[in-house]
Amino acid sequence: MKFFIDSADIKEIKEAAKLGILDGVTTNPSLVSKTGRKYLDVVKEICEICPGPISAEVLSVDYDGIMKEARVWAKVANNVVVKIPLIEEGLKAVVTCSKEGIKTNVTLCFSSVQALLVAKAGGTFVSPFVGRLDDIGHEGMDGIREIKQIYSNYDYKTEILVASTRSPIHIRDAALAGADIATIPFKIFQQLVKHPLTDRGLAQFLEDAKKIPAP
Ligand code: E4P
Repeated sequence: MKFFIDSADIKEIKEAAKLGILDGVTTNPSLVSKTGRKYLDVVKEICEICPGPISAEVLSVDYDGIMKEARVWAKVANNVVVKIPLIEEGLKAVVTCSKEGIKTNVTLCFSSVQALLVAKAGGTFVSPFVGRLDDIGHEGMDGIREIKQIYSNYDYKTEILVASTRSPIHIRDAALAGADIATIPFKIFQQLVKHPLTDRGLAQFLEDAKKIPAP
């Protein structure tokens, strides 16, 4: 399973990269707006930190505008993946991007039939948002299991990128469902490694080690 960080904060991305298990980065306009910087500058800097796929989102909602932005993003760096919203105009653009060899991450996916369309359009990644579905009383992870089954039925190559993750439980369930990737906020990255019994056990071992006679 691959781990992406869902962030536009350079400090966070550098910290996560230091762990040595970071496979990519996802950004969105909301995350970039918090930095106060230009989207292009942020993405260029992230591309230098992480060699894996870096998702950069288009802001247009019409086919021509999306394609114009996609072609610009694709030229920024080899590892840039163009994030396109799951709307009709977006799907048309995904088909064209696929033909042109531009990698895509189709975002704002909230159902398995939407994900089926992404696979048919040739999307590189699909981003189903589990947390936002949970927020409105749905079981976001059910959708991941459905997408996994549908993609496996037809051997679609689109990778399932579980997005809008809010807790280590989401990461566990995404892994159990066989998702290809989870994109994880920095805070959750930090929580993943932590367990109170690990800390308590280590403290005890270190204490007991003091009683061992020196060699
Ligand atoms: C995914 O690519 C999105 O950037 C992100 O996961 C959305 O998460 P949120 O629902 O917590 O905003």
